[in-house]
Amino acid sequence: MSTNEPGDENFTRTGSSTPLTVEAVQGVLNGVIDPELKVSITELGMVSELLISDLGVVTVEIALTTAACPLRYQIKREVESKIEGLPGVSEVIVKYGEMTAEQKTNAMERARFQARENAAPTEVSATTRVLAIASGKGGVGKSSVTVNLAYALAARGLKVGVLDADIWGFSIPRMLGINDRLSGTDGKITPNHISVPNRLDPDSPDGGLEVTSMGFLVEDETSALMWRGLILTRALEQFLTDVRWGELDYLLIDMPPGTGDIQMALARMLPQAEMLVVTTPAKAAQKVAARVADMARRSHMKVVGVVENMSAFVAPTGESYELFGQGGGATLAAEIDAPLIMQIPLEPAVSQGSDEGRPAAQSDLGAPAATAFHELARLVATDLLPPLEMAGCTARILEIMADAASPKRATP
Ligand SMILES: Nc1ncnc2c1ncn2[C@@H]1O[C@H](COP(=O)(O)OP(=O)(O)OP(=O)(O)O)[C@@H](O)[C@H]1O
Ligand SMILES: [Mg+2]
Repeated sequence: MSTNEPGDENFTRTGSSTPLTVEAVQGVLNGVIDPELKVSITELGMVSELLISDLGVVTVEIALTTAACPLRYQIKREVESKIEGLPGVSEVIVKYGEMTAEQKTNAMERARFQARENAAPTEVSATTRVLAIASGKGGVGKSSVTVNLAYALAARGLKVGVLDADIWGFSIPRMLGINDRLSGTDGKITPNHISVPNRLDPDSPDGGLEVTSMGFLVEDETSALMWRGLILTRALEQFLTDVRWGELDYLLIDMPPGTGDIQMALARMLPQAEMLVVTTPAKAAQKVAARVADMARRSHMKVVGVVENMSAFVAPTGESYELFGQGGGATLAAEIDAPLIMQIPLEPAVSQGSDEGRPAAQSDLGAPAATAFHELARLVATDLLPPLEMAGCTARILEIMADAASPKRATP
């Protein structure tokens, strides 16, 4: 193991050189949460075998509590997805096993213990997908990507939380055109709500945004400076534990600039969190962005991919202008061994929309940037990070409880 820890100033390695180790695989598997028991599959003892070949083939056996559980496909997909996100992995093979009665009892005890000890560590549901939007440099469009992706996901009928974790440089309230103070009851804060019409199917329920930002707690950006004494990680913790998020499909977090502490805090509080790295086409900015991705992986956070923002501006005549250079997204993606998911063109509608509190994704779908944001949302929702389900296995919990109550009962 390296002696360099996250936050170490001397740290220079990039993501692609992070070695593929059992520890790294176990680390990302900590982020696969059993949606019913709300505990990581590693903690439940469900990872019964883990092998890594020299060629990067990772074989994992998942011991299920009951072999017939319909959630097994989801768990398998989660395991594959998390491991595939690690650099150096060529193939993932997931096998199923079944727990013995004794193992089930242990798993249930662990779940109970967790529930008792870490009583609801956050208000974020175990079935909420958490996506941190980060970048190396400031001003590359993290906040723009956050609000537009959130809007486009909500336009698919999904419930999306938006957490502006950039507590000193918050911009989400302005970008979404909301400035209401946050209210609360029983010591919990209620986020600001925006209803978003369903574009996929107007007859299906609308989607919605649940938004929190330091901007809703302070009078203006100047008084936000008075909060400087507040430790950033503590603020993040409060937003995660004191906000009544409800049953969200997604929680998008607009990360503050910089690396290290806040990412590690997020990984600790929400081990299921994954990261999207935003960069510009300019190649010069890639070093810092690669560092952010590497930091994420050191906290065992999966890097979903790269979004290149401010890509070639397409004029109404069809000509394209690479105002900020080109190739930055692809270079970064190759360096950190993650896919380049989308290129968002530079377009006045994006900045105008931000200033007017109406995200570009809300307006005309024919515009290239809006189209790109909706396409990004489609990829996230159907492929990269589809919404998690937890229906269908209630019988399984009852069975586990019964097993736990009478451990000598034979397994069927
Ligand atoms: N695709 C785009 N086309 C045109 N303008 C854009 C685009 N993306 C972002 N902008 C504009 O660039 C500026 C910076 O974007 P944004 O605030 O989203 O970046 P950021 O990474 O969150 O910055 P910070 O580090 O300050 O938080 C804003 O004025 C925004 O409106
Ligand atoms: Mg920002």
